[in-house]
Amino acid sequence: MSLIDPTSVDHAILSRRSIRRFLPTPIPQATVEAILDVSARAPSGTNMQPWQAYAVAGAERDRLCAAVVEAFDAGSTEPTQEVPYYPDRFFEPYLGRRRTVGWALYSTLGIARGEDAKMQAQHRRNFLFFDAPVGLVFTIHRDLATGSWLDYGMFLQNVMTAARARGLDTCPQAAWARYHSVMRPVLGIPPEAVVVCGMALGYADPDAPENTLQTERVPARDFTTFQGFID
Ligand SMILES: Cc1cc2nc3c(=O)[nH]c(=O)nc-3n(C[C@H](O)[C@H](O)[C@H](O)COP(=O)(O)O)c2cc1C
Repeated sequence: MSLIDPTSVDHAILSRRSIRRFLPTPIPQATVEAILDVSARAPSGTNMQPWQAYAVAGAERDRLCAAVVEAFDAGSTEPTQEVPYYPDRFFEPYLGRRRTVGWALYSTLGIARGEDAKMQAQHRRNFLFFDAPVGLVFTIHRDLATGSWLDYGMFLQNVMTAARARGLDTCPQAAWARYHSVMRPVLGIPPEAVVVCGMALGYADPDAPENTLQTERVPARDFTTFQGFID
């Protein structure tokens, strides 16, 4: 039993994990809209509210997935992500953390080093929203500055936390951004918009091995310099 009050904000934050296999249980539009309405209470510099979202379900979700899976299978990644999410070259301590989570995920699936085809197959599942019934795609105006991307992160965390409050799970997905040129005509994303990321939304499959992954965090005392406290 959790020691944290299940109705608390801490519980919603701590119970969020990236879920990579969902049940087909549909989610009503009203639920998705309520999550996005709550999330839009995120702060943003001068209240600019830089977020734009596309929420797809049913046939529209399938249409988006089919288009991107086709591009993925054809080996097409051009043009790549417009605003890089990752550095060109990983370095420590980030490289080590990245490797740790990657291998931890693959080991839940019984994928060993060198099994590239199986890794590719797992990566491909991003473009099925990991079977989630609802897909979210988030965009931002390309002329906005770094501050708005910071605001965006707060909004996205709200989406994932508000989903938890409703018993729903998520997986934020940078993978989609590489396929923005395929997604644009399907979703009607205008040229001035940059795809920030996708997000799977639904009920977690409790029996899926990949959903057992528990990631670690560096404790606050290791990334914080505390100064001036007297207690
Ligand atoms: C913006 C963003 C993009 C991500 N993109 C992907 C992705 O494309 N595919 C994926 O499987 N996980 C993706 N993740 C999930 C991370 O791997 C995950 O958050 C991290 O390993 C910590 O695990 P946790 O979310 O379960 O706490 C992304 C996370 C964030 C915040």
